[in-house]
Amino acid sequence: MKQILKAITKSARETEKFAEAFAREVLRLKTKKAILIGLEGELGAGKTTFAKGFARGLGIKEEMKSPTFILMRVFRFRSPTSRTPRSRTSVFFHIDAYRDQIDFREFLRSNKNILLVEWSNKAKKFLPENYFRFVLRDPTPTLRRGRTSREIIFYA
Ligand SMILES: Nc1ncnc2c1ncn2[C@@H]1O[C@H](COP(=O)(O)OP(=O)(O)O)[C@@H](O)[C@H]1O
Ligand SMILES: [Mg+2]
Repeated sequence: MKQILKAITKSARETEKFAEAFAREVLRLKTKKAILIGLEGELGAGKTTFAKGFARGLGIKEEMKSPTFILMRVFRFRSPTSRTPRSRTSVFFHIDAYRDQIDFREFLRSNKNILLVEWSNKAKKFLPENYFRFVLRDPTPTLRRGRTSREIIFYA
């Protein structure tokens, strides 16, 4: 896996927009198996914020909540643009591996599935060989409150 891109977002909104744009690219990919996005980063780094934007980019309207107390949330969706190969009904799995790691390997078989795993570093044994990895962090680790910039490093 190699580093593809390093971005800085200046607000939660920007992180959402970044993830939204990434989701639209993901929808255009042709794959034989599921696509998995792994998110790493401390509490408050912006993983769920990213997940919200990502879901919106897929065309999912439902409100996204932090699933830390829920192991997994499943959303059926239809690709928003007719030109995308993934035009049929697809399934988005939003997983949080912080406390317990659900065995999601079963869902990796179908190319109708898109999985986003928060705390993917805690679920390494279930990760496929190829996946999209994002590491989020606050680049200004000071005591200053209300800081809203985040570094996002993308590996694939
Ligand atoms: N640039 C940014 N990107 C993402 N979240 C940000 C950013 N700046 C501030 N925030 C805030 O940080 C918090 C991130 O929370 P959340 O996305 O739930 O993190 P995690 O899922 O990693 O614990 C939210 O309150 C969000 O509004
Ligand atoms: Mg979270």
